[in-house]
Amino acid sequence: MASPMRTPTPGKRVAVIGAGYVGITTAVCFAHLGHHVVCADIEPDKIAALSRGELTHFEPGLGDLLTEGLASGRLRFVLGATAAVDGAEFIYLCLPTPMLGDGRPNLSALVDVADEVGPHLAPNAIVVNKSTVPVGATRLVAAHLGRGDVAVVSNPEFLREGAAVNDFMHPDRVVIGADDSATAIRVAELFADVPGAVVVTDPVSAETIKYAANAFLATKLSFVNALAAVCESVGADADDVLLGVGYDRRVGREFLRPGPGWGGSCFPKDTRALLHMANDAGYEFGLLQAVLDANDEQFDRTASKVLKLAGVAPGGDATGVTIAAWGLTFKADTDDLRDSPALEVLRRVVAAGATVRAYDPVINAARMEPLGLSIEVVDDPYAACEGAAVLTVLTEWDEFRHLDLAKVATTLAERRVVDTRNVLDRNQLVRHRFVSDNIGRR
Ligand code: UDX
Repeated sequence: MASPMRTPTPGKRVAVIGAGYVGITTAVCFAHLGHHVVCADIEPDKIAALSRGELTHFEPGLGDLLTEGLASGRLRFVLGATAAVDGAEFIYLCLPTPMLGDGRPNLSALVDVADEVGPHLAPNAIVVNKSTVPVGATRLVAAHLGRGDVAVVSNPEFLREGAAVNDFMHPDRVVIGADDSATAIRVAELFADVPGAVVVTDPVSAETIKYAANAFLATKLSFVNALAAVCESVGADADDVLLGVGYDRRVGREFLRPGPGWGGSCFPKDTRALLHMANDAGYEFGLLQAVLDANDEQFDRTASKVLKLAGVAPGGDATGVTIAAWGLTFKADTDDLRDSPALEVLRRVVAAGATVRAYDPVINAARMEPLGLSIEVVDDPYAACEGAAVLTVLTEWDEFRHLDLAKVATTLAERRVVDTRNVLDRNQLVRHRFVSDNIGRR
C-alpha cells in the first residue's frame, strides 16, 4: 500500500486523460499525494462508475485510494479531454497505443487528444506522455498541440499490474524526459513526496528507457525459460539453478521464475515496437527477435507437455481428450487477459482437438466470449477437473497453492498435472500419487 502522506507540497492542478490501467492509477495516486486531479475518459459508463467509487478493473489497493480521492474532493472524473484540461498546469496523457497488425503502435488516440486539447491549454502548461509511446512521440504530440508555450515531457510508467499502486508510490526510479531543466524540475515537483531516484534526460532517451527496460526484462525471462528447458534436458533443477544464479547481484533474484512464457498488455507490444523501431532506424535487432521467438517456443513447449501427459502423441489428434486448466489471466493478481500466456497455451491445446474446462479466480465465461477461444469456463477449481485427463496450472494465483489435492486426485480421470508455474507442493503431489510435469525439472 502507499506510504502515509507526509507534509504535502502545495497541490498542483493535474488533468489525466485516459482512465485505463495507467490513467486511473496515475489519477488516484496524484490525488493521494495532495494534487488536484481531474481524470477524463470517452466512455460514459466508465466515468459514471469511477465517480461512484467503482473500479472498472481489478487492481489491489486501488479501490481504497479511489474512495479516498473522491472523499477528499481532490479527484473527480469527467467525460472528454477538453473538460479536464481547463486550468490544469499538467496534462497527463494516459492513452492506449495498441499494437497494429504489423507490430507497430497505433498513435491515433494520442494525436486526436493533442489536436483536441491544444487550443484549450493554459499558458505554460506542461503536457506529459505517461503511456508507453514510440521514440519520437513527444515531438509528434507537440506538433499536434500547436502551442509554442506548452512543453511536452516524457514520464514513462513502470507499473506492474497487480502492484501498480506500490510501483507508483515506491518506484525504483522516476524518469523525466524534457527539453530543458526548468520544465523537468516542474514535473519532478509532482513527485516530491515519492521516494526513489529521479532520472532526468531528453525526451527521446526517456522514451527509449521505457522500451529498453521492458525488452530487457523480456530477454531475462526468455533466457530463464530457455535455461529451464536445458535443465530438463540435463537433469538439473531450474529452481535451484536460478536460485544459485540469482544471488549474483549483477543478475538479481527477481524475475527469475520460469513459466509458460511471458505476456500481458506491455511486454509483447513493447518488445515488438522496439524491434520495429530499431529495424526502421537501421539496426537489425536480431537478439530481440530471438527473445520473441524463444517466447513463442515456450508456448509450444508448454502445450506439448500438457498434451503429452494427457496421452496425446506429438502432433497427434486430441479429439475427445478433456484438459482442466487453472488460470487464464496473464499472471496472478490481475484480471487482464491481454496476450495471456495461459491463453496462448490453451489455444494450441484446443487446436490439437482437446476440450478445455478452465477456472480462474477473477475471470468468468462472459469475459472469455470476445476472445474467440472455445473453452468452457467454470466457477469452481474442482469442477474444472471433473473427468479430465490432466490438470494444468497456467497462472500463479495464490489460491491454487491451498487447494485440496486429494480432492483433485479423485475428481480428475487421471492423477496427472502439468504445473507450468511450479506453484504446487511437490511432496503433496507425490503423496497423492500424481504423475506430474513442470517447467525446468526432469
Ligand atoms: C510490465 C513491467 O514489469 C512494468 O514495469 C511495465 O510498466 C509494464 O509491463 P506487467 O505487464 O504488469 O508489467 O507484468 P510483469 O509483472 O512484468 O510480468 C510480465 C510477464 O512476465 C507476465 O506474463 C508474468 O507472468 C511473466 N513473468 C514475470 C514470469 O514468467 N516470470 C517472472 O519471474 C516474472
